[in-house]
Amino acid sequence: MNLLPVFALSLLLCCPGLRAQEALKPRYLDPAAPVDERVEDLLPRLTLDEKLGLVHADSKFCTAGVPRLGIPKMWMSDGPHGVREELSLDSWRPAGRTDDFATWMPASIALASTWNPALAVAYGGVLADEARARNKHIMLGPGVNIQRSPLNGRTFEYLGEDPWLVSRMAVGTIRGMQAGDVAACVKHFAVNNQEVDRGKVNVEVDERALREIYLPAFEAAVREAGAWALMGAYNKFRGQYCCHNATLLNRVLKEEWGFRGLVMSDWGGTHSTAEAVRDGLDLEMGTRSAYQDYYLARPFRAGIEKGEYPLALLDDKVRRNLRVLFAIKGVDGRPAGTINTRAHQAAARRVAEEGMVLLKNSPTLLPLDLSTIKRIAVIGDNALRLGALGGQSSGMKAFYEITPLAGLLAYVAGRADVTYSLGVLAPQHQRFEALAFDVTGAALAPAQPSPAPESTLNAAELADRAVAAAKAADVVVFVAGLNHERNQDTESSDRLALELPYGQPELIARVAAANPRTIVVLVAGSPVTMDPWLEQVPAVLQAWYAGMEGGNALASILFGDANPSGRLPCTFPRRLADTAAHASGLARHYPGEAGTVHYDEGLLVGYRWNDAKAVEPLFPFGFGLSYTTFGYSGLNILPGGEGGALATVECEVTNTGTRAGAEVVQLYVEPVAPAVARPVRELKGFDKVLLQPGEKRTVRLALGPRAFSYYSVERKAWVAAAGEYRIAIGRSSRDLPLGGLFVLAAPVETR
Ligand code: GLC
Repeated sequence: MNLLPVFALSLLLCCPGLRAQEALKPRYLDPAAPVDERVEDLLPRLTLDEKLGLVHADSKFCTAGVPRLGIPKMWMSDGPHGVREELSLDSWRPAGRTDDFATWMPASIALASTWNPALAVAYGGVLADEARARNKHIMLGPGVNIQRSPLNGRTFEYLGEDPWLVSRMAVGTIRGMQAGDVAACVKHFAVNNQEVDRGKVNVEVDERALREIYLPAFEAAVREAGAWALMGAYNKFRGQYCCHNATLLNRVLKEEWGFRGLVMSDWGGTHSTAEAVRDGLDLEMGTRSAYQDYYLARPFRAGIEKGEYPLALLDDKVRRNLRVLFAIKGVDGRPAGTINTRAHQAAARRVAEEGMVLLKNSPTLLPLDLSTIKRIAVIGDNALRLGALGGQSSGMKAFYEITPLAGLLAYVAGRADVTYSLGVLAPQHQRFEALAFDVTGAALAPAQPSPAPESTLNAAELADRAVAAAKAADVVVFVAGLNHERNQDTESSDRLALELPYGQPELIARVAAANPRTIVVLVAGSPVTMDPWLEQVPAVLQAWYAGMEGGNALASILFGDANPSGRLPCTFPRRLADTAAHASGLARHYPGEAGTVHYDEGLLVGYRWNDAKAVEPLFPFGFGLSYTTFGYSGLNILPGGEGGALATVECEVTNTGTRAGAEVVQLYVEPVAPAVARPVRELKGFDKVLLQPGEKRTVRLALGPRAFSYYSVERKAWVAAAGEYRIAIGRSSRDLPLGGLFVLAAPVETR
């Protein structure tokens, strides 16, 4: 029996002074009191100015707090991939500190490619540990905007094209983060699917596409994961800015979904006091003015004093901000955080390994066998380029970055001769600051990337040297891809084309002609085309931006210590015109005409477009190879199931190869002759299973009403119509060996 409470109570009883002090402690300071009671106890103690100080910024990344009452500033930090460096209090300039390095996790799109929600929980946990270590209360992520165009500069920061996959990975990340007493701030709410004109473009999208494609991840974040904060998007939705949008914030988010946390603006996304007061904004950040001139500062105060705005509207905003602070123990003191631990490094490496997608491997060149390889030629700017600080707000200072070249050199460790050729000339404008620390935190020599050895040569000379190196090697690892330069994978601009830049396609073709044993590793955060070289190279691996352990993860995959198990979270199209947003080539559809972009494709985003239009992708959604093979059998569709399921679907998966490996079993629902327009098939379930050679496992997936539902605009509800549905199971959206019928006898309506 734990005697401590007894001892504490007796101490209280025998010490009147202590007893009186405890009795005097206000309710809002009692960690044991329910959050809402603490909020209601604190609210009337606040002056008008103190209340206003809680609903707008008091620096670039914090609110004022109420020191008089023991309420701390509420600090927030980017970004989705780790805790951003400290910036100056009132500008975007770096603060120039040396204690703000952090664990740089793989990009969100790499996390999505793991199709492993449990890993998303671990990912969120790393961010929370390091956020607490840096005294941050809110992390500005995950980003969950659906990939509508593969040109979107922030594709790497998001989780792909499918609402179900994005929802599962977002829920996992949020749960991991908030279990660590750090509030997630899910962004950018909503329909922020391009960077071109992001600050003002108006998005017109029909209600079904909004509900069935663009909102589900936000809805899951709020209704399943209990996200404490959302960030409004810069753009407009149906004519009103998202940061104060009555439809999105008041009607959908707060009334329909019951959201009780706070909505903050994106930085500089607020444009009106009246709308911010009335249409759902709770915290104004980043407005380009003095803090007291923010829309929710002096102008709001003046409006209250004139009786233009009821005080109740301010009180609701204050309640929401205080709820978040109390919910994450921001007033009580949180467990100490940790940074750059072995566990964090292991998590970064695991996400990187599980996120890499093997796109091609014939005739089974991979995994590489070091016993037969003596000379490896590594080629490409991305073999050496540091990526952590790029991409704008998701950039950060990594404790270290194991580049692809560094990872391969460390793995080979002299067992083969490794040459490096830059191959192409690529601009290097982004900053880098990777200070190598060992886990004890002792700073080692700053890890500056060695300037490419041949950076004095011109493009032709660089290419020729790379081809010569390829010719002399047993195997070539060409690390191609994109980077965080403007018009590539970065915030504030979109890509201009799907092709690889800097002459990479031509050089890959030349290298492959010089040495057929060429592996192309793509370090990029969004789809690229692969003409003319794809047919020439035997192996292609999509590595994404793989975080600070990326080079080690790459080596593990290439040499077979890890069996690739990533699956594409987005379609890789053969050409830009094969995608919904670009098929017509009309500005109306992208990037917008007269200030408005029209999502006329409606529901048909990503593979939904390919299926509806019978357009063959280069690589389909859900695709990914393994070093082993898997067989499917034993489909069984049972009515009903746990948790109100309408159907429970079982099948058996067998590892039919000779190596252990993980398979992502994917379930798609295909309405048969639906009465309303529906996509051909939609992902509605998946499970990742690790199987030993020869092992067989039964996978069981429960399908609730939403798995069969479309959104009825007339009924303002989700409707699973009576009728037949084909249940298809397999290894990608275009490889579904198992199928069976499920009949729903009567319609089911949910809200
Ligand atoms: C940026 C981004 C947002 C980020 C914020 C703070 O403009 O749109 O994702 O969290 O500003 O840096």
